[in-house]
Amino acid sequence: MSEGESSGASVWHQGRLLLGVSPGEPFNACERVVDRHCARYPEATAAIHRNHHGDRRVFTFEDLRRAVSRFASALDALGVKPGDRVFTLLEPMPELFWSILGAIRTGAIAGPLFAAFGSEAIRDRLGDSGARVLITHGRHLLKVRAAIEGLPGLKQVLVVDPPADGLRGIERDLAALLADASDERPPHPTSEQDPMLLHYSSGTTGKPKGVLHVHEALVGHAATARAVLDLRREDSYWCTADPGWVTGTSYALFGPWALGVPQIHYEGGFSSSAWYSLIEAERVSVWYTSPTALRMLMRDGVEAARAHDLSSLRHICSVGEPLNPEVIRWGLETYGHTIRDTWWQTETGCMQIANAPWLPVRPGSMGKPLPGVTAAVLDPTTHEPLPPGQEGLLALVPPWPSMFRTYWNRLDLYGARFRNGFYLTGDRAYTDADGYYWFVGRDDDVINTSGHLVGPFEIESALLTHPAVVEAAAFPIPVADAGEAVAARVVLAAGSESSRELIRDLKTLVRRQVGPYAVPREVVVVDRLPRTRSGKIMRRVARAEHLGLPVGDLSSLDES
Ligand code: WT7
Repeated sequence: MSEGESSGASVWHQGRLLLGVSPGEPFNACERVVDRHCARYPEATAAIHRNHHGDRRVFTFEDLRRAVSRFASALDALGVKPGDRVFTLLEPMPELFWSILGAIRTGAIAGPLFAAFGSEAIRDRLGDSGARVLITHGRHLLKVRAAIEGLPGLKQVLVVDPPADGLRGIERDLAALLADASDERPPHPTSEQDPMLLHYSSGTTGKPKGVLHVHEALVGHAATARAVLDLRREDSYWCTADPGWVTGTSYALFGPWALGVPQIHYEGGFSSSAWYSLIEAERVSVWYTSPTALRMLMRDGVEAARAHDLSSLRHICSVGEPLNPEVIRWGLETYGHTIRDTWWQTETGCMQIANAPWLPVRPGSMGKPLPGVTAAVLDPTTHEPLPPGQEGLLALVPPWPSMFRTYWNRLDLYGARFRNGFYLTGDRAYTDADGYYWFVGRDDDVINTSGHLVGPFEIESALLTHPAVVEAAAFPIPVADAGEAVAARVVLAAGSESSRELIRDLKTLVRRQVGPYAVPREVVVVDRLPRTRSGKIMRRVARAEHLGLPVGDLSSLDES
């Protein structure tokens, strides 16, 4: 078991100091990230919003306070009460950030959904959480209408930029509601243990689970935004993550604003030139991104980077997947900085193991537990800590402020994550003699595609909605430039034949129902899928067959 580096007090203690709250002192996270700064520097920049059209809008903390007040007051007018679930399905536009904070201001629970989610993914999450309100954009109404049919709990859909052919049923024009709303709506006096955020995360079986966080999570966001991202108010900070995933709320919303740091929000897709131009134009100093993005930048070459003045960069961090040592070497050569990997999860709420600024980087390692974090690698059977060098289950000693408090309505699954006094992360890892942690892989069948977790069950469910498919197995396959892609093997109904059209239709189904990120790179029709005696499909064997790997000892996989 290894305690975090004793380079100082627990980062959680520092987080409380940064937030100005003592243990147990009630606060509302919206008040701490917005109103608190208005008292001291209302005109300081909070957000710089850029989109792919080249528009640039700047918002001060006072602008932010008024905007989130208006959103909160509009939710009041709709009858939203503390504890209600308010979901969003929006690209990272200003309205997204205002909606999330506006909901939290009222004491409601914000549920940000990735705008590219397909209709089933949206439906599952709104249905499971019993969401009362959904805030979305006119361009998503078609899939939203398909997703919400027959969801009893949903009372209103608020629409940014309603379509020309009008709104129907429970849909309302958001702008009209905001026009009547007050921009002086005080934060609801929540306790620090009240729920504020629900992110869905995928598992091996069943539909995604709602990971519930409380206001106190802000302590962890603030602590790590300072300790690991090293953020200061003078920084120009860009986190490339979308708030539809946890990195985009913890580090493109809560953490930086908890410290009063201005952040860049970019509403546009990936291209090397667009990203480098943004770094150059905004003089970005701290940059938090993903291995997938860095690998894409690497593929576009050093010249693409050299065409821009990137000298403002001083600190680069990464999260979501293993950060390949060759990317770190390339980053040092190209940007002049060692890219620092960080490890955490939706459930942990904030970074736990990281290459903090004071730590010499060992390329390929996730770094060490932060001060105040106790991590361990456990024997999979006894759940006792293993010595360095031995691979096992990556675990953490609870609690910490941003630890999830439950899986929504699934206390049973929550309980199953704790063993022998440890929280089991679902990852496999080992430590070296100096206490660095090295990622090995997932301990379950969850697929990590471009830093997004996707459950094989969601993909298989989508494939099975095709009348020609009777069985499906989805699993990860390695891709050439590292990282994982989704692949699937399917068995067809008698009389159905494989064709290029069928494979294309199957991919389209996954895209529409789950989302573009989950589309299998390869779909192969097979005669049968490997099953256990009790009839469960053995995804790992299907994967081995697919990759032409030795299938291994099937008896050990039986029932696994
Ligand atoms: C899973 C959590 C937390 C941010 C985004 C993902 C994998 C995360 C690393 C890393 C290797 C990593 C793990 C983890 N992961 N960071 N630095 N190196 N793998 O949140 O969707 O909850 O996924 O992503 O498997 O358990 P998430």
